[in-house]
Amino acid sequence: MSSNTVDTDQMDSQLTTSGETAEDIEDAWSDYQFQGEAKLSVEDLDVYYGDEQAIQSVSMNIPEESVTALIGPSGCGKSTFLRCLNRMNDRISSARVEGSVEFDGENIYGGRTNLVELRKRIGMVFQAPNPFPKSIKDNISYGPRKHGDLETGLLPSLLGRDDTAEEMDLVERCLKQAALWDEVNDRLDDNALGLSGGQQQRLCIARCLAVDPDVILMDEPASALDPIATAKIEDLIEQLAEEYTVVVVTHNMQQAARISDQTAVFLTGGELVEYDDTEKIFENPESQRVDDYITGKFG
Ligand SMILES: Nc1ncnc2c1ncn2[C@@H]1O[C@H](COP(=O)(O)OP(=O)(O)OP(=O)(O)O)[C@@H](O)[C@H]1O
Ligand SMILES: [Mg+2]
Repeated sequence: MSSNTVDTDQMDSQLTTSGETAEDIEDAWSDYQFQGEAKLSVEDLDVYYGDEQAIQSVSMNIPEESVTALIGPSGCGKSTFLRCLNRMNDRISSARVEGSVEFDGENIYGGRTNLVELRKRIGMVFQAPNPFPKSIKDNISYGPRKHGDLETGLLPSLLGRDDTAEEMDLVERCLKQAALWDEVNDRLDDNALGLSGGQQQRLCIARCLAVDPDVILMDEPASALDPIATAKIEDLIEQLAEEYTVVVVTHNMQQAARISDQTAVFLTGGELVEYDDTEKIFENPESQRVDDYITGKFG
């Protein structure tokens, strides 16, 4: 379809070069099949902030042990959607979520969800690294200690329970998994705020891993970092996907193309326009709007 034949009134029933309607296209990719199990199944998700709708009837299945990238122009609802996956939007008083998100087959918006447990199993890493103003070691052990999985401290040791060795094993394992161990193993008691931005972000990933999650949600985890630190985070994300389900929001198309297995493209209005294998999205998308976005014609 050449762009000069389309006026805005036609956008809804937009035709592709092959003459398909947007509906045909959606049918083609909504049957998106992947190998393995769906870790998260989103069905008819709508999100409103007051009267404003930010996500419009989005349905998609997110496969386990892979990287799913969410891309799209600023304000299209990527962060809102990501926050729905572990009910972080519950913390925003004006936000209202309708529809369902199944995690391992169970609707997290059903009445029985324990939010503390949910956010332990579906962790989140934010754009700006936000380590606690504590030691590197304490950043890692804070979560497991809070959940009662580690009992170091004065009172437990008076009671004859001291998991110091276990704590050190955990700290080492998580820092190694987050590719940070070699850089910090000689200063585990130093304040985490003394680390570089890239190191702080890897520490936040290590902290997220410490509570043994299944899913890691990342909202532009490398956008505040320099190219070398970004490359480290990208390598790390690819490695994590061997064991965890990773969902990552990025503005960086090359990054999405490099690190993700499947890509979901959201466009203005909170609509999921196309979702498919990353290669397909970047090389041969079904939707003209996605093609325009990816080739930089808008957004
Ligand atoms: N806490 C909030 N209260 C009210 N409206 C909000 C809130 N958070 C987001 N919105 C609105 O919802 C829409 C989607 O925002 P969201 O932050 O999800 O977009 P995004 O795709 O992550 O954008 P960006 O790429 O800039 O981070 C926007 O119109 C935004 O103004
Ligand atoms: Mg965002």
